[in-house]
Amino acid sequence: MGAYESIFKRRSFHRFPDHEPLTDADMQAVREAIAAATPLDPTIQTKIGMCPEAETSCHCGAEYCLLFYSEDKPGYLQNIGYIGEQIDLMLVEQGIGTLWYGFGKIDEKRRDNLSFVIMIAIAKAPQDAFRQNMFAAKRKSVRDGWQGDTLGVAGIVRFAPSACNTQPWLTVCEGDTLTVYRSKKAGKYGLLPARLLTYFNRIDIGIYLYMLEVCLRHEGFAFVRELPDKAGDGATELAAVYRDLKRQQEGTIARIARYEGLMQKAEAMLASGDPDAGELQDITAALSAYYSSRYWKEDFAEDEAGRLPPDLSRGVLSEDGLYDLLQACKALPRRSKSGLNAPQGKTSS
Ligand SMILES: Cc1cc2nc3c(=O)[nH]c(=O)nc-3n(C[C@H](O)[C@H](O)[C@H](O)COP(=O)(O)O)c2cc1C
Repeated sequence: MGAYESIFKRRSFHRFPDHEPLTDADMQAVREAIAAATPLDPTIQTKIGMCPEAETSCHCGAEYCLLFYSEDKPGYLQNIGYIGEQIDLMLVEQGIGTLWYGFGKIDEKRRDNLSFVIMIAIAKAPQDAFRQNMFAAKRKSVRDGWQGDTLGVAGIVRFAPSACNTQPWLTVCEGDTLTVYRSKKAGKYGLLPARLLTYFNRIDIGIYLYMLEVCLRHEGFAFVRELPDKAGDGATELAAVYRDLKRQQEGTIARIARYEGLMQKAEAMLASGDPDAGELQDITAALSAYYSSRYWKEDFAEDEAGRLPPDLSRGVLSEDGLYDLLQACKALPRRSKSGLNAPQGKTSS
């Protein structure tokens, strides 16, 4: 299981069921998740601590709370959301339930000159306490949060968690660019003071961006992410732009098709019994380089994972096919510049 699968399984544990304490292995997984999380903006200093739930104002029946501290710089809330959601999904993978707890308070408001931002409550949870059917969770429709081509991700990323389930995101897909906005409209949560709503919703957007990237990668997209210098005005705030969206798979498929074509050509030449030696040698050199490259291994792994179109001809990825062909070509008599050399010990007429 990975981050993508955890999206389907995660839910907010507003109350944690009776639970076993975290094991040493769980604690190690928590430490590793914290260490592995990468920031959206590496120039912003952050620290993540942990304390027993009893040392916070949280009363959800959790065992611990993760405490997020940050420098107060532009984009710091989005950055914390992005980091925290990575940890959230990694913990879910480990069977640890989580709750982003916006209203949680802690005495230690400053740590190493950084300010307390938010906490995530955590505790071990049985498998059946996690979400069994994500699509039954309450969310706005794809149409309300996404414009343009859905890229196979819009229907999943909308299940990102958000404070009071406000879901303050709007994503616009135009050509090879995705633009993500934070909606400034309070919606039905107008009762929350505007400043608090903005605070939480910026964290929500960081969470959403991380999930969006997980979904894009899962669908095979490569992209370049840009964070705006200026937030923008009006009813929406620009949060991030994803440019040069390219399905890496297209590259994979085109590559497999090219080498498959070369392999079939080489096989046909061998079968003809009278191959053009120069051309065959060029083809086998290309095939041999592919076979020993990381690309062949990656393409093989894509095939094993069932991610290639079923109708794609791919003998070139079979375990022995390419190897046997290269061996057969090697067994041919060596060639001179003008063609095949005569077999040793025989005279050509
Ligand atoms: C930034 C943030 C703050 C949150 N704060 C609280 C909170 O203080 N108390 C609470 O019970 N849930 C809190 N939640 C959980 C949301 O209510 C929950 O994510 C939302 O209702 C969607 O439900 P789900 O997470 O189960 O999918 C928070 C979530 C986020 C992302």
